[in-house]
Amino acid sequence: MDKSPSHRSLVTGANRGLGLELVRQLLARGGRVVGSCRRPAEAVALQSLAAAHPGRLHVLALEVDSDASRMAFAREVADLFEGLDLLVNNAGMLAPGERFGDLDAAVLQRTLATNTVAPLMLVQALAPLLQRGARPRVLNISSALGSIGRADSFHSPTYRISKAGLNMAGVMMAQAVNPLGIGIITASPGWVQTDMGGGSAPLTPEESVASLLRLVDDLPGVPAGEFLDRTGEPLPW
Ligand SMILES: NC(=O)c1ccc[n+]([C@@H]2O[C@H](COP(=O)([O-])OP(=O)(O)OC[C@H]3O[C@@H](n4cnc5c(N)ncnc54)[C@H](OP(=O)(O)O)[C@@H]3O)[C@@H](O)[C@H]2O)c1
Repeated sequence: MDKSPSHRSLVTGANRGLGLELVRQLLARGGRVVGSCRRPAEAVALQSLAAAHPGRLHVLALEVDSDASRMAFAREVADLFEGLDLLVNNAGMLAPGERFGDLDAAVLQRTLATNTVAPLMLVQALAPLLQRGARPRVLNISSALGSIGRADSFHSPTYRISKAGLNMAGVMMAQAVNPLGIGIITASPGWVQTDMGGGSAPLTPEESVASLLRLVDDLPGVPAGEFLDRTGEPLPW
């Protein structure tokens, strides 16, 4: 990754968890970052990072599953940046405690809208900016739980379906934007200590994000949406 002060990146779901750590590490590398969240006024940790990095962190509102919000957001990003070098589709949700016999279609639809549809729509909306970026790349934060080949229990079904869909969305993104020079990386961050991952997870956000950004740095060429773990090893679809 270009580590110059002119590097421009964007992270969704930046107010906590992996998104907040992505913003921290991207700021530490230099460059400018857009950190999006649903409620900027309540994003205390993100706002204090912005105050500590004047002019380098822009906190913008984005409800990823809303068409109107995504459209307004894409316009705001275009007002800030001439081009975009890295888009991290990080925002995601996992509905806990699902049981067969008690599944809720509305939960599945909301999970798909957030985890699968939104990343694809954001790439579509931001492709012109990415095309003007330097070595532009999109990092889709997927999950090993989205691996169909590894699905061996009825656990978090809506989340798994949404991440398997995101993996295919990543391949479709690549088909659409690789010819424009935009690389697509779809990676699992590992099991990480966040609100979603819980306290028993083996990885800290610092460790996970460091390896994800290394992956973005190191993958050669124009990545075509391969499904990888955070070290770059292929995961079964
Ligand atoms: N932690 C793990 O072990 C693990 C493992 C595999 C994959 N992942 C993936 O890593 C990514 C980050 O997860 P995390 O562990 O950092 O989870 P987290 O701590 O629960 O944070 C989720 C983030 O996504 C945002 N978000 C959810 N729905 C949104 C929406 N409709 N619009 C805008 N923002 C929305 C949340 O915003 P609010 O604060 O407003 O809710 C929050 O910023 C997710 O894609 C997740 O699936 C995590």
